[in-house]
Amino acid sequence: MVTVRIVALLAGLLGAMEMVSAAPTRSTSEVPSRVVVEDDLQPAAVVTPPPCVAMTPAPSVEETEARFDKFANAFLVTKNLTEAFEYIAASYRNHNPFASGDGPGPALDVLGPIWPRTQITVLGTTFNSPMSWLHYRNSMSGEIVDRYRWDAGCIVEHWDQGEKYPGT
Ligand SMILES: *[C@@H]1O[C@H](CO)[C@@H](O)[C@H](O)[C@H]1NC(C)=O
Repeated sequence: MVTVRIVALLAGLLGAMEMVSAAPTRSTSEVPSRVVVEDDLQPAAVVTPPPCVAMTPAPSVEETEARFDKFANAFLVTKNLTEAFEYIAASYRNHNPFASGDGPGPALDVLGPIWPRTQITVLGTTFNSPMSWLHYRNSMSGEIVDRYRWDAGCIVEHWDQGEKYPGT
């Protein structure tokens, strides 16, 4: 008798677990953020875009520069991280020593909560294939020079330690 009851109990548990795993899941395109910030008590989510996929054929230098201009505008002017990160490859390698890892995810985790409140003054942007530079002052960390390496239309690498803005 006892055995029968244990089996019935287990069957009930398994049934419940199946119901949990069968719960509807949202498609990735509408998954809000890994990062939710409160800005003036308004919750704001950073939606993680699909990563940039290497373009074939690879865009010309001029086309890549135009993509860099769009990235710079989204990152520094409109501060739309979702749009900016459309240019970041899944293989993005971040040489910032404080980054918790490579790829767009760790970078968004760091930037998501602080970017909306950060005041940014653009000091310059430069493209010299395959590198590009952003020079700006931000209210959180002062003057910054970011250097990015582009490959097949995507940002694949980033440095921001001891970088010198070209011509300075
Ligand atoms: C930010 O960029 C994304 C992707 O380009 C766009 O869908 C979204 O509407 C933009 N958000 C704002 C507030 O402009």
